[in-house]
Amino acid sequence: MIYAENMGNLEGSMTNPYVVVLGNEKGGTGKSTIAMHLSIYLLHSGFRVGTVDVDARQGTLTRYFEYRRTSTIANLLLPTHFAIKKSDAETIAEAKVEDGRDFHNAMEALADHDFVIIDTPGNDTFLSQLAHSYANTLITPINDSFVDLDVLVNINGNDHRQLRPSIYAEMVWNQRKEHAKMGQKPIDWIVLKNRLTTLFNKNRNEINLVLDVLSKRIGFRICNGFCDRVVFKELFLSGLTLLDLEQSGQQMSLSHVSARQELRELIAFMKLPQLSEK
Ligand SMILES: Nc1ncnc2c1ncn2[C@@H]1O[C@H](COP(=O)(O)OP(=O)(O)OP(=O)(O)O)[C@@H](O)[C@H]1O
Ligand SMILES: [Mg+2]
Repeated sequence: MIYAENMGNLEGSMTNPYVVVLGNEKGGTGKSTIAMHLSIYLLHSGFRVGTVDVDARQGTLTRYFEYRRTSTIANLLLPTHFAIKKSDAETIAEAKVEDGRDFHNAMEALADHDFVIIDTPGNDTFLSQLAHSYANTLITPINDSFVDLDVLVNINGNDHRQLRPSIYAEMVWNQRKEHAKMGQKPIDWIVLKNRLTTLFNKNRNEINLVLDVLSKRIGFRICNGFCDRVVFKELFLSGLTLLDLEQSGQQMSLSHVSARQELRELIAFMKLPQLSEK
């Protein structure tokens, strides 16, 4: 599925797009929600944005854009969107070739865009690994619990100081080595805390300590992302983001304004080269 409304000026700069991958081998941590908000933010900032959904079987991001495309609100900005459906070829080898071809075709079609935002599934697939290999920035959203921390590190239950990088962390590590071998810029890995609550949480200090040690050891930056807010759930069906509320005539609540500020803070934290040039 492709929306070509925002193909931009084809004679524009032909430098490679800056690729942001949302990845985490755990379901439901906010990858698609954040992918949506980032892409709309960048569109609102005047960039040519492409999006790729390599989780097309679930297709959350694709459906989000579909609701947006058919919205009754006029002139909502849309990226050029590709949904890559996992191949159903008979052998794994054939499926990899087909998946790889579809993904590369999408990336090639987006070569003249400023940004490509890629949403990946909450489990390990060939397409997800391929997407990670393209990342300039990788954002891994986690919720505030040891269950989510498990995606980064296996922790000894008796001694929280005994940490072993998870299979996912090792996969990212290997991708980084490949980038280095090919003389590419290192992947900026951001672990983003999502759905933060203000409720008392006795694990939180412990989690922060583990994250701190881990960030230095396996090299990621920690971003205090988004609080747990019902607005994120409500916006999905209307295809809207926090950035469209005024255009849609909705009253901005204090929670909306705070959530929008959190999005701006994430963008600033990402230190995107294109934004510092603007
Ligand atoms: N900051 C937030 N506050 C409240 N709800 C949130 C927040 N972020 C995400 N959600 C909700 O959490 C659920 C999961 O979010 P989302 O689909 O973005 O996760 P995901 O990581 O893409 O999941 P999957 O791995 O299954 O693709 C959705 O109902 C979404 O609306
Ligand atoms: Mg998702």
